[in-house]
Amino acid sequence: MMSVGLPPEYRLVELAETESTNLACLEAAKNGASGGLWIVAKRQTAGRGSRGRQWVSAEGNLYASLLLDEQSEPEKLSQLTFVASLAVRDAILQLADEQSSVIEAKLKWPNDVLISEKKVAGILLESHMLDERRIVIVGIGLNCAHHPANTAWPATSLAEAGILINATIAVQAVAAHLDRWLKVWQNGQNFQAIRQRWLDAAKGVGEKITVRMADRELTGIFENLDDTGRLVLCKAGGDRIHVSAADIFFEPGQNW
Ligand code: BTN
Repeated sequence: MMSVGLPPEYRLVELAETESTNLACLEAAKNGASGGLWIVAKRQTAGRGSRGRQWVSAEGNLYASLLLDEQSEPEKLSQLTFVASLAVRDAILQLADEQSSVIEAKLKWPNDVLISEKKVAGILLESHMLDERRIVIVGIGLNCAHHPANTAWPATSLAEAGILINATIAVQAVAAHLDRWLKVWQNGQNFQAIRQRWLDAAKGVGEKITVRMADRELTGIFENLDDTGRLVLCKAGGDRIHVSAADIFFEPGQNW
């Protein structure tokens, strides 16, 4: 175990290979590990994406999960997706800046980070009760060296954006920014600040979007995030729908 390059209150475990760093964090917690543990793997054999999808995890990219002991109310935990998205975006902007690379990095609801409209990172949050203890695992996949082809939404990597960085450097930047944003969030007492910064950095806010859910599709204006991180969609006629799980698409011209 080492903690070089991470903020002092965190520990880091580096694995050559694991099924999923989210799963490795859960196992560690069951074996008594406390919050503040980062687990990073060079490769994942069963990387998990959002909505039950697979996250292709060949060597070269960052696969990292942070174990947290959560004191906030359970309904506030989904806010952590937005806390983590802001941290990953800031880490990318910092790494770009250090290499004098000028990029456009935006957030896409609910858990994606985009560079030039293409997905470069995704976040997968998991919450578990272990007896009386509530843990949250913040899983982060960041395409450093390569990206998958033929995805529903186009993907990219830091390398493609001209940022040449390995996973070890990337996790240090992500960990530092996530620590900072967690302190802003204050266990959910200051989601207002997170929400505002997220909305400022997000694609499509105030614009017409299509929300594709498992069983239906809706169109309307992407108006806001509610307190649990659901997307507030204002339909023609003024009805507001709070969407918790969906893929969103933008109007032609604002799309990829
Ligand atoms: C998404 O679908 O956008 C979320 C992807 C999250 C992938 C990361 S990689 C590290 C952690 N371990 C996993 O199995 N998934 C997350």
